[in-house]
Amino acid sequence: MNIPLLLETENVSYIIGNDAIEKSPIKFRQYKRIIVITDENVEKHCLPIFKQKLPSLIIDGVITIISGEENKSIHQLIYIWNELTRLNVGRDDLIINLGGGVLTDIAGMAAATFKRGVQFINFPTTLLGMVDAAIGGKTGIDFARFKNQVGLFINPSCVIIDPIFLDTLEDLHWQSGFAEVVKYGLIMDRELWQKLEGKKYKDVEDWNSVIIKASKDKIDIVRFDALENGIRKNLNFGHTIGHALESFYLKSGNPVTHGMAIAAGMICESWLSSKIFTLECTRLESIVKMIDLNFNRFDFSESDISRIMQLMKQDKKVRKKKQNFSLLRKIGKAVHEVEVEDQLIIESLEFYINRKKCN
Ligand SMILES: NC(=O)c1ccc[n+]([C@@H]2O[C@H](COP(=O)([O-])OP(=O)(O)OC[C@H]3O[C@@H](n4cnc5c(N)ncnc54)[C@H](O)[C@@H]3O)[C@@H](O)[C@H]2O)c1
Repeated sequence: MNIPLLLETENVSYIIGNDAIEKSPIKFRQYKRIIVITDENVEKHCLPIFKQKLPSLIIDGVITIISGEENKSIHQLIYIWNELTRLNVGRDDLIINLGGGVLTDIAGMAAATFKRGVQFINFPTTLLGMVDAAIGGKTGIDFARFKNQVGLFINPSCVIIDPIFLDTLEDLHWQSGFAEVVKYGLIMDRELWQKLEGKKYKDVEDWNSVIIKASKDKIDIVRFDALENGIRKNLNFGHTIGHALESFYLKSGNPVTHGMAIAAGMICESWLSSKIFTLECTRLESIVKMIDLNFNRFDFSESDISRIMQLMKQDKKVRKKKQNFSLLRKIGKAVHEVEVEDQLIIESLEFYINRKKCN
C-alpha cells in the first residue's frame, strides 16, 4: 500500500510519494476559485492526470505559458499577470502551479506579486521540480540574460509531490533532475549516495523512495535556513561553476539543462574539494565516474574559460575578489562559504575539459 509522507513545517505542508494527489488533505473548498498555471507540455500530459485524480475539483481557469528556460522571462510574467487580471483573480482564490522548475519559479513569482500575493500550491511534474525547484520558496525569472536575476523568496502553502507525472517526462529532463538527486547524496546523505553510486538513472529501482528521500533532504535544509544565510548554501555545491556554464550556453544560443550544467559543476567543484579539503582521490574519482556514467561532457575549450570566469563574477555568491563556494569535506558532508582563488577555479575547469586524473 502507498502511504505518502506528510510533513508539516512552520508555514508549508508537504505531501510526498505515490498517490500524494488524491491523499492530500487540502481543503480546496475554502477557496473561492481555483486557477491552474501550467505550460503547454504539462497541460497535455499532466493536467488530464491531475483532473482524473481530483474529479470533484472545479477548475475556474487555466493559464498556459510557453515552456522552456528561454521563456522564464519578464514577458511571460506579464502574460500571467494579464491573464490573472482578465480572470479577475483575487486574494481569496487559489493558484495551482502545475509544472517543472521553470513553471513553479515564474508562476510562484506571479502569484506572490499579483495583488500583493495570492495563495498558491506547487504540484511539480519534473524530477528536478519534485526534489528541488518546487521546495524552498525561491521564485523568479531570468533577466538581462542572467539566470534567476529577479525574484523573491515566497513559500507556497503546500507542495504536493506525486511521481505519477514522471511517466511522460523526456530522458533529458530525467537526467537533469538526477543531477540534483546525486547532489543530495554528496552534500548530506551518504546513504542516498550509496544507493545510487555506480548506477545510471534509468537503472534506479524504486524512484518513489528516492524522491521521498531527496525531497526530504531539501526540506530539512530549507526549514532551518529559509533565506540562505547559512546551511542552505550547502545546496549550492556544483552551482557556482554550474550556473556560469548554464549562462555560457544560454548566451551562446545552445541552452543546456540545469542538471547537465550542475553535473559539470559538481566535477569541477569536487576537484576543488580535493585540493582545498580532504576529499580523497578515490572519492573524487568515484564522483567523476558516476557523473560521466550519466552525463556527456560539455565541449567548451580553454579559450572559453575566461568568458566562463566572467559569468561567474555575476553569480550572487561572489564576495570580494574571490569566488565563494560550497565544497565537500567528504562524501555526505558539505561546507559553505569557502573562498577560492581564480587560478584554482581555472584549473578545475581544465581538469574537467582535459579529463585529467586526480593527483
Ligand atoms: N526555485 C528553486 O529553488 C530552483 C531550484 C532548482 C532549479 N530551479 C529552476 O528550475 C528550472 C528547471 O526546471 P526543470 O528541469 O523542471 O525544467 P522545465 O520546467 O523546463 O521542464 C522541462 C520540460 O519538461 C516539460 N515537462 C514538465 N513536466 C512534464 C511531464 N511530467 N511530462 C512531460 N513533459 C513535462 C516542460 O514543459 C519542459 O519542456 C530552471 O529554470 C532552474 O533555474 C529552481
